[in-house]
Amino acid sequence: MNFAVAEQKLKEIGQEHVLKYYDELSEDEKNALLEQIGNTDFSVLSHVNDDAEEKAHGVYSPLKAVTRDEILKRYDEFTAKGIETIKAGKTAALLLAGGMGTRLGSDNPKGMYDIGLTKHVYIFQRIIENLLDTVHAADTWIYLFIMTSEKNDAATRNFLKEHDYFGYNPDYIRFFKQDMAPACDFDGKLYMESKSRIATSPNGNGGWYSSLVRAGLDGILNQNGIEWINVFAVDNVLQKILSPGFVGACVLSNASVGSKVVRKASPDEKVGVMCLEDGKPSIVEYYELSDEMRDAKDENGEPAYNFGVILNYLFHVPELYEVASKSLPLHRVTKKINHIDENGDFVKPTEPNGYKFEQLVLDMIHEMYNCLPYEVIRENEFAPIKNKEGVDSVESARELLKKNGYEL
Ligand code: UTP
Repeated sequence: MNFAVAEQKLKEIGQEHVLKYYDELSEDEKNALLEQIGNTDFSVLSHVNDDAEEKAHGVYSPLKAVTRDEILKRYDEFTAKGIETIKAGKTAALLLAGGMGTRLGSDNPKGMYDIGLTKHVYIFQRIIENLLDTVHAADTWIYLFIMTSEKNDAATRNFLKEHDYFGYNPDYIRFFKQDMAPACDFDGKLYMESKSRIATSPNGNGGWYSSLVRAGLDGILNQNGIEWINVFAVDNVLQKILSPGFVGACVLSNASVGSKVVRKASPDEKVGVMCLEDGKPSIVEYYELSDEMRDAKDENGEPAYNFGVILNYLFHVPELYEVASKSLPLHRVTKKINHIDENGDFVKPTEPNGYKFEQLVLDMIHEMYNCLPYEVIRENEFAPIKNKEGVDSVESARELLKKNGYEL
């Protein structure tokens, strides 16, 4: 793209300031900036005035979960089916590690965070060791796809290599990068991360499948007959990955997708809850839960909307091909965005200062034919690290790990 075309493109959307320092840049920087302008989809900025809390939704109804009682009754059957499926090479794991982890506030990829106290215990290490439990139980290697972003890809690859992939067989690890989206202030003005670069952020975890396909890695799924992919967040250090019982339950019920869920701690807990929306699987956000839904009971007198998601899903691959053709909604998310100020000085904000735009994996769930919520015990499988301190933090995760017998 040449300068005149770039300038025109920016003028049309009122973002000419992107070229403010153009004349000061080296030839390489000029070309890089023009290329970035050419490749950027600025239409995401039209979502700047979206108010997430007012989005239209359909009619909600309860969706039954497979509860712990049922799981215990059918434990052997689920586990045997799961092990058989994993042994047959029909499963893969996919780690969502493209996020910026801004709340944790480390400059490194979140997985590099060391949560150990007397020894090193890295988040990536915990995740890989959790997957190794399944590898050992099924006595077979499992493909592990790792989604990174342009911001953390090199650091992630180098770190895992330096640590010998924490014992994982690198022949079964594949990295791929997700897409980026421009970020802006609260008025929709694009941030610049340097004089020659528009600030960008990873475009959310909902684009994992299209990014996997763009990277050509769906070939691995096809060639190896992989039918199920367990997609999970980097920050839950306790979650079991491809746990045989979960896999078996999904296979036996012909699920389009399975979702690990935890029983809500209280009716008001701020978690997204599995349900149906217009008859299709969906996740209702806590602020969308009406009083009526909150108080609704099932035939056993239990709360009808009682199971929160933990971002651990098992997708049935054949259904994914269809979902891939549909476009997912874009969400405006308030975040801290590094940028240069009007004097050209670099700013690392301490408070959220603008918006990034994300597609979310939970919107993919809504595109699937059906979903099997599978109850796991919160204390044993849910220790997310979002913040440094307080709720869902390094501190709370350490406590939970210790309770589960991990040495830190
Ligand atoms: P979060 O919603 O916690 O976002 O991601 P985040 O970017 O990691 O952290 P904050 O909000 O800036 O503090 C949930 C999971 O989705 C992944 C994350 O890496 C994490 O595993 N994710 C998130 C992506 O892979 N890509 C994204 O663009 C966003």
